Amino acid sequence: MSIATSRAQEPQNRLRRIWKVPASRAKWLWLAICLVLSGGIAGWYFYTIKTQEAPGPFDDPLRLFGIVSYVIVIITVSYTLRRRFVRGLPGKVQDWLWLHIWAGITAIIIAMLHENFVFISHEFMQGVSDLTGSDWGGAALFALIFLVVSGILGRFLDIWQTHVIAREASTNGVGIAQSLQERIRELEYTVERLSAGKSEAFKEYCLKALGQKKGGSRLLNTTPELKAYEAADFQSAAETLQQRGRLVRSLRRQTSARQTIRTWRTIHIILAILAVIVILYHGTLELLSNVFHLIPAA
Ligand code: HEM
Repeated sequence: MSIATSRAQEPQNRLRRIWKVPASRAKWLWLAICLVLSGGIAGWYFYTIKTQEAPGPFDDPLRLFGIVSYVIVIITVSYTLRRRFVRGLPGKVQDWLWLHIWAGITAIIIAMLHENFVFISHEFMQGVSDLTGSDWGGAALFALIFLVVSGILGRFLDIWQTHVIAREASTNGVGIAQSLQERIRELEYTVERLSAGKSEAFKEYCLKALGQKKGGSRLLNTTPELKAYEAADFQSAAETLQQRGRLVRSLRRQTSARQTIRTWRTIHIILAILAVIVILYHGTLELLSNVFHLIPAA
């Protein structure tokens, strides 16, 4: 998620410019590489199903597709290495994210070709043994499907929620959360100053409005009974409270957008950990047994 801030009310075209992430050439490079790879493997797959009698994941080239998909999953996971652990790796995080996205989608396409679309278009699951057979091959496939679907949904959610934050930041007249919090605090001090030494009704009104979670919009429709000399200050306090209310609501929308993105990311990471464990288990045992013949096949 990447956004910039703006202070004033901005026209629509400026808003579009603010929330747009800088173009990444790596996006197109990784896409081209993934398209060539998955296109080439799909061509090989169609040739194989025409020329082989019973193609399956235990025989080449479908077995090889499994190895390719396994390697691509590891490449997909390398994004977290660049983002968190080895920040010195070359290239921008954004470029690695595009590799992550395209590689994740390519991995699932090639994994389905590897399994010859078993469980997807025919021979649907009959029981738990279908998941655990072939060193948890079925479980690895479904784990990858869930993970990639979560990734795709999350990507759209990320774009949408980032847009919400950018729209708020560019139309509330203040900016993103940190600046909003400061401004809201300043406005609250102003209200406190205005209500100091005033009647109980004045103070109670201000206190109630400040205490309302939604910014005091309901209370602002009513007017307390005041002394005549308080009218001018009350007018200023009411305007300040109104402005504060607008900013509080903008802050809430931005906070909830951030929270949505954070929640999705947590779900995606938990799914990724579980899925990668199952995929590594399946891939490693298959490599050791059916490729290198170091252990007996399951
Ligand atoms: C093999 C499949 C995948 C695996 C193993 C995987 C794993 C992960 C992991 C571990 C993270 C957390 C990175 C971190 O914060 O350190 C992550 C983040 C993310 N993934 Fe995936 N993912 C996969 C597929 C996808 C796909 C297909 C998409 C989108 C189409 C996607 C979109 C994202 C996004 C948007 C983030 C958050 C990026 C950020 O804000 O830094 N992922 N993924």
